[in-house]
Amino acid sequence: MNILLTGGAGFIGSHTAVELIEAGHTPIIVDSLVNSDPEVYKNLKKITNSDVIHYENDCRDTAKMVRIMKKHKCQAVIHFAAYKAVGESVATPLKYYTNNLDSLTSILDAMELASVNEFIFSSSCTIYGDPKKLPITEKSPIQPATNPYGATKQMAERIIEDVCASSSIRAVMLRYFNPIGAHPSSHIGELPIGTPNCLVPYLTQATAQLRDPLTVYGDDYDTPDGSAIRDYIHVVDLAKAHVKSMDYLKTSHKDVSVFNIGTGTGTSVLEVIDKFQKVTGEQVPYRVGPRREGDVAQTYASPKLAQRVLGWSAEKSIDEALLDAWNWQLELAKKPHNILERAEEMVEHAETAIEETIRESWGMAADA
Ligand code: NAD
Ligand code: WQD
Repeated sequence: MNILLTGGAGFIGSHTAVELIEAGHTPIIVDSLVNSDPEVYKNLKKITNSDVIHYENDCRDTAKMVRIMKKHKCQAVIHFAAYKAVGESVATPLKYYTNNLDSLTSILDAMELASVNEFIFSSSCTIYGDPKKLPITEKSPIQPATNPYGATKQMAERIIEDVCASSSIRAVMLRYFNPIGAHPSSHIGELPIGTPNCLVPYLTQATAQLRDPLTVYGDDYDTPDGSAIRDYIHVVDLAKAHVKSMDYLKTSHKDVSVFNIGTGTGTSVLEVIDKFQKVTGEQVPYRVGPRREGDVAQTYASPKLAQRVLGWSAEKSIDEALLDAWNWQLELAKKPHNILERAEEMVEHAETAIEETIRESWGMAADA
């Protein structure tokens, strides 16, 4: 299948592109590169030995999306493109509402116009808020969102339900738990811009002495060691869930299906540090601080529905994920971090994009 991946240059999208290629599909990536590096395309080639078709576009450009879907005869769309930083969403809510919701409505609109009917959406465990019962199942209540990012995921799910009920589009919404790790080749991984908010990228950067010591946000939760518990899933396992969802959409007649994508096992922050130290042999510099506002004590998934219906379950251990995250950090350390070099790369990249746009408009003028 030819599958359009919005946000396919990002952390989860790039890993999914690899798994789709390995399963015999052809991903077509559309990414504005607002939160990713064009080098990912070279690195995807190193892993898959194939040139990945890609466009540098904002997926809010509906007409362009229709043209790409038609040109490549796309049969499905996986929509990753979104902003994802919880704290930033509180500071700049409109940035989140406009990008995350307009990109979704644009892509659904384009799908209708191009008659593409299969859709996978990146949802999040964040929509469950502070769960009353564990593990979290797909029937667990959705709590009012505590931040604009979470609100965009809740609204997005509602939009998808309404559109699927009134059109031929069938959707799978995957509620990811906490994705971590990197491809075992260390060619692709997470690329946080600025100071990471999430535990594992902060931990690896602190261990590499690029940041101040890690602060463990609270050791007074009602958990066995007092630190908060999450369901950390290897990004490669998460990527594979998209391949299984594609297979499922071929035979499913349901308008919308929802699956939790997690391991089913909770791990505390202190356990993560301990496992990381054991698996890498490194010492994590850390101290215990107060709780982070908005954090909940425990979340972990029941992945049973995904196991039963999609035939998917996580295969990699948290140890593998932590080792892969560390190896990715070591790989990143080899790359030029010099600001000037990065700025030059960006200028070069912008020039190429301008040239491509000019070439394309000349082509279109010739067609007309
Ligand atoms: P990411 O930032 O690495 O990737 C998102 C990609 O989308 C980036 O490459 C960015 O350049 C691109 N993008 C953003 N807006 C765009 C637009 N309007 N048009 C085109 N491209 C655009 O993030 P990720 O971690 O890979 O997350 C992918 C999806 O999964 C997001 O929807 C995110 O909300 C969701 N999600 C992520 C996590 C997580 O912890 N990483 C957890 C749950 C859900
Ligand atoms: C994990 C644990 C922190 C950093 C976030 C988003 C959520 C979803 C997944 C997208 C928590 C603790 C963290 C640090 C720490 N993303 N921690 N020190 O908060 O579970 O979920 O990513 O949909 O929407 O909110 O992930 O990695 O930030 O935190 O102690 O420096 O690590 O308190 O218990 P979180 P996280």
